[in-house]
Amino acid sequence: MVQHPILIAPSILAADFARLGEELVASEAAGADWHHVDVMDGHYVPNISIGPPVVEAVARVVTKPIDVHLMIERPLDYIEAFAKARPHCLTVHWEVTGAAGLPAAEERIRACGVPLVGVAVDPETPIEGLVPHFGRIDMILVMSVKPGFGGQSFMPEVLDKVRALRSLGFEGRIQVDGGLNLETGPLCAAAGADVLVAGSAIFGSGDLAGTIRALREAAEAVAPESLTGR
Ligand code: DX5
Ligand code: ZN
Repeated sequence: MVQHPILIAPSILAADFARLGEELVASEAAGADWHHVDVMDGHYVPNISIGPPVVEAVARVVTKPIDVHLMIERPLDYIEAFAKARPHCLTVHWEVTGAAGLPAAEERIRACGVPLVGVAVDPETPIEGLVPHFGRIDMILVMSVKPGFGGQSFMPEVLDKVRALRSLGFEGRIQVDGGLNLETGPLCAAAGADVLVAGSAIFGSGDLAGTIRALREAAEAVAPESLTGR
């Protein structure tokens, strides 16, 4: 079993966009492992956030890995543009690619030199269809809110999917995204997730370092030994 330390990935969606560079530098200094970047196109989700120029600007000021979550309908058309920011991970939605489109998305992401290929599933999407594709996927993002907006409540029913992915033998990273805080984040880690995305709970806390530390400690305390190597 591959072992993964718990990673904390603040979602920049909850940062102050007027001071984005400063917020991300502060987030790194506070102990964030990754910067989670939510890209929304107004089609796949009913909201619009940011595009490639902003991700490139972010890349100029941060030193930690950038994790781009593409909530967009035509990812193939934009993978190259987002790859210019040299992200560590590019995640596409399974609802968009389906089994037929996943190989092309994976190949495009790898051809652009992005280290990790991520595939996201919405709360109501079953994960069984992903099983034959485990070999193509480095990280599965389990959405724990309806995608499109920060600040929503965690949907505990998705924890069964995290557990199922582990029992079906997925050894890559599992990220949970939406409504994570000091209570719900550890539930995800206990179920087998190892990348915890949190927007409002971190940027809205007024204490970036204290919240990131508390989230990491609470998650590490309950994460399965088989995953963390404790
Ligand atoms: C939702 C996004 C999430 C979200 C997380 O569509 O993918 O990353 O912004 O924010 P919080 O932690 O506020 O739910
Ligand atoms: Zn996200």
